[in-house]
Amino acid sequence: MAKVLVTGGAGYIGSHTSLDLLIADHEVVSVDNHVNSYRESIDYVNQLSKKKVAHYDIDLCDKEASRIVFEEHKDIEAIIHFAALKAVGESTELPLLYFENNMKSLLNVLKLADEYDIKNFIFSSSCTVYGQATDLPVTELTEMKEAESPYGRTKQLGEYILKDLAQYSDINIISLRYFNPAGAHHSGLLGESSKKVALNLVPVITETAAGKRKECVVFGDDYDTRDGSCVRDYIHIEDLASAHTKSVEYLLNNNNQDPYEVFNLGIGDGVTVLEAIKSFEKTCHQKLNYRIGPRRAGDVVAIYSNYERAKQRLNWSPKYGIDEIMKTAWQWEKTRPY
Ligand code: NAD
Ligand code: WQD
Repeated sequence: MAKVLVTGGAGYIGSHTSLDLLIADHEVVSVDNHVNSYRESIDYVNQLSKKKVAHYDIDLCDKEASRIVFEEHKDIEAIIHFAALKAVGESTELPLLYFENNMKSLLNVLKLADEYDIKNFIFSSSCTVYGQATDLPVTELTEMKEAESPYGRTKQLGEYILKDLAQYSDINIISLRYFNPAGAHHSGLLGESSKKVALNLVPVITETAAGKRKECVVFGDDYDTRDGSCVRDYIHIEDLASAHTKSVEYLLNNNNQDPYEVFNLGIGDGVTVLEAIKSFEKTCHQKLNYRIGPRRAGDVVAIYSNYERAKQRLNWSPKYGIDEIMKTAWQWEKTRPY
């Protein structure tokens, strides 16, 4: 059982992963400046796990302020680095903010890991690194295309830095490329609670159904796909969280095949926007107020994963599909405490 530093621990994926780590008997130290999250998520992680996260409210762009975490926890064995800004559209308006926050926080955490001799590191990457993929499903060997946004570029740059670092030092690193994380914890006490307006499909659907928005606009139905709407690989947040615990244990047990490895995390199947809406209507027993609108600039037409590598090496497979995502996302929307 290990002590794991989770950066961005109060965020959507960070909070679910912290809970999964605690349930697997690991200890969690968390750092978050709450630029996009609420402290309450940590309280619910503590409540659900009946354990306690050691949480710090610190901006990781401030290296010296972050040092206290490493000083107070000299026995950290692994780091999962979630902390980043992630709004694709915002990154096109504020590219420098995205480069500064995402690259500086990454480099500061890596420098502190080096100083405090922490040898296991997991990075939140994204399917966005593949850009407009043409060969589906994408494997980890599919080449990275030009990034569609400054946000996507921070993930590509992060991966390049980590690949070199693993080659030229003795740290072991995994980059996890998430496809479309969605849904909420089955308890109804944890879910996505962003400080920014939700732009991703699943929260847009649930907020529309809850009357928080007028309608859900489908961004285009004239693509070359089975029903004309875009195809994505939606992965349930609990499945995604468990892949992080498995990745930590894989590194701690020295099971890694290379100092730098990359894993796709998706369900290996594509779902169209219209199918996602149908799943919501069927699973949650209600009609959604939606209409077809124009295409959204920068959208990839279709992308879904081959996750065979994660299955083979991490012994990880997803348990849930789109229906369970909709069911838990809707439960969260109706009862969310923060
Ligand atoms: P999130 O915004 O809920 O969580 C990120 C957390 O990092 C937030 O709590 C935020 O307050 C914190 N943070 C940001 N900058 C910080 C800084 N400088 N110092 C300290 N804390 C800081 O987002 P998420 O969905 O949980 O995403 C987690 C990671 O996964 C991110 O790196 C994101 O880019 C990546 N990712 C997310 C998705 C997705 O669709 N959710 C998909 C692929 C990759
Ligand atoms: C999904 C589909 C939209 C909203 C983003 C990032 C990516 C990764 C995951 C971080 C698309 C359609 C959406 C709406 C719609 N994040 N849609 N109406 O764009 O696949 O990926 O999150 O790394 O980098 O780009 O996710 O949820 O925004 O969209 O029709 O109101 O739903 O066109 O086809 P996306 P999304």
